[in-house]
Amino acid sequence: MVFKLAVTTVAFAALASAANFKRVVCPDGNVTSNAACCAFFPLMDDLQTNLFEGQCGEDVHESLRLTFHDAIGFSLSGAFNGTGADGSMIIFSEIETNFAANNGIDDSVDALSPFLTRHNVTAGDLIQFAGAFGITNCPGAPQLEFLAGRPNATFPASDGTVPLPQAEVDSILSRMEDGGFSPAELIHLLASHTIARSDTLVPGHQAVPFDTTPFTFDTQIFLEVLLKGVGVPFGVNNTDGAEVDSPLPESNEMRLQSDFALSRDERTACEWQSMVNEQALMMSNFKSAMAKLAIVGHSAEDLIDCSDIIPTPLPPVAKPATFPAGTNSSDLQLVCASAFPSLSADVGAASIIPECPDGDTNLNDCPS
Ligand code: HEM
Ligand SMILES: *[C@@H]1O[C@H](CO)[C@@H](O)[C@H](O)[C@H]1NC(C)=O
Ligand SMILES: *[C@@H]1O[C@H](CO)[C@@H](O)[C@H](O)[C@H]1NC(C)=O
Ligand SMILES: *[C@@H]1O[C@H](CO)[C@@H](O)[C@H](O)[C@H]1NC(C)=O
Ligand SMILES: *[C@@H]1O[C@H](CO)[C@@H](O)[C@H](O)[C@H]1NC(C)=O
Ligand SMILES: *[C@@H]1O[C@H](CO)[C@@H](O)[C@H](O)[C@H]1NC(C)=O
Ligand SMILES: *[C@@H]1O[C@H](CO)[C@@H](O)[C@H](O)[C@H]1NC(C)=O
Repeated sequence: MVFKLAVTTVAFAALASAANFKRVVCPDGNVTSNAACCAFFPLMDDLQTNLFEGQCGEDVHESLRLTFHDAIGFSLSGAFNGTGADGSMIIFSEIETNFAANNGIDDSVDALSPFLTRHNVTAGDLIQFAGAFGITNCPGAPQLEFLAGRPNATFPASDGTVPLPQAEVDSILSRMEDGGFSPAELIHLLASHTIARSDTLVPGHQAVPFDTTPFTFDTQIFLEVLLKGVGVPFGVNNTDGAEVDSPLPESNEMRLQSDFALSRDERTACEWQSMVNEQALMMSNFKSAMAKLAIVGHSAEDLIDCSDIIPTPLPPVAKPATFPAGTNSSDLQLVCASAFPSLSADVGAASIIPECPDGDTNLNDCPS
């Protein structure tokens, strides 16, 4: 008679560090460090097949944004309600998606919610896992940590925990501090805007990119935000202070007021500038800051480290940062006194940033 165990733990008791060598074979044959991580293998497959489609497209971008909007629902001072990375954005979506700073977040909430009915994971785990796994489709993204075991939220976060793009630097930094983040950590988190396009800020237009390479986790965002503004994309100039003039309006690029102000504030300018053309630094900064963001409201000891299930992301593109065609170092607006890297400029006319890496013009996804 053969006994087939669904989950087999092989303990190498003789080895010094048991935790490092513990291996569990999941029902589907995958191997990981803890049986509690097994549920994420089929979830990974389902997300890749039915949502992300192997692309660093809209659904990956929106899932990454959601990791922040869910997790920052937390307050050290108690000024706001919220238990951090707790899935409250999904569980209390009827309340939280109506907050002004969450405009457009309903797309990711609607996209991810069906996965909760198909997989035995909590809403907070689903959100952080979707972000960490999703960006592995983006060339140059770091391999994020993933810890499992966030309990479901039992009450919604208050309105006001997510910074608005029209906010002043003082108010953004104090909100982030109350959420547990230093000014430097905020700038590290803002590497996320390297894969970002606005669906809500430019009336009549969706997927308006923040840099020339919204499908690549590169450092162009840190460079392009530092260039002088010359106008707004599509000539639409009425977004309540959320937008400032962009350096590349003819390329349909826009710029957030918050990114502009943070890159030029003396408290954050050097941190911002330090990541220009520093891919490895940006990756490690973002990885560390995301490790903290993903567990806001929890302590790592209460969670299970499932980082070993996150695949290796696509490698960075070989190209260094460059001034987009039509711009050069004369356009830099630098507040930080540190030396600025010497970069070449793309030649030719400013071009429209494609909707998808393959040039596809579908606004929501990049079909493979
Ligand atoms: C000062 C803090 C921040 C502000 C004011 C801010 C503001 C915004 C705004 C206004 C948008 C455009 C939304 C839309 O119109 O569709 C956006 C997009 C995005 N944000 Fe942020 N953000 C901040 C921090 C973060 C952080 C910390 C992350 C993640 C770690 C993040 C990730 C993203 C992503 C990935 C997108 C693109 C979404 C898409 O392309 O659909 N943001 N952000
Ligand atoms: C769901 O996941 C929890 C936490 O990992 C586990 O304790 C429970 O047994 C699982 N339930 C089912 C039906 O698999
Ligand atoms: C492991 O998980 C991956 C991702 O869900 C899946 O594609 C694969 O079939 C699973 N099983 C094995 C043995 O790799
Ligand atoms: C926090 O929740 C309590 C209880 O529901 C409520 O009375 C209070 O107004 C909330 N605070 C904020 C800032 O939303
Ligand atoms: C968490 O909430 C989701 C959505 O309501 C639900 O599907 C899931 O079963 C809940 N999980 C736990 C452990 O309560
Ligand atoms: C909008 O228009 C005003 C006046 O024409 C101009 O000064 C400003 O730079 C434009 N851009 C934005 C983002 O408001
Ligand atoms: C940048 O471009 C402008 C306009 O084409 C030109 O006048 C200027 O000399 C250039 N600056 C550098 C440093 O190349």
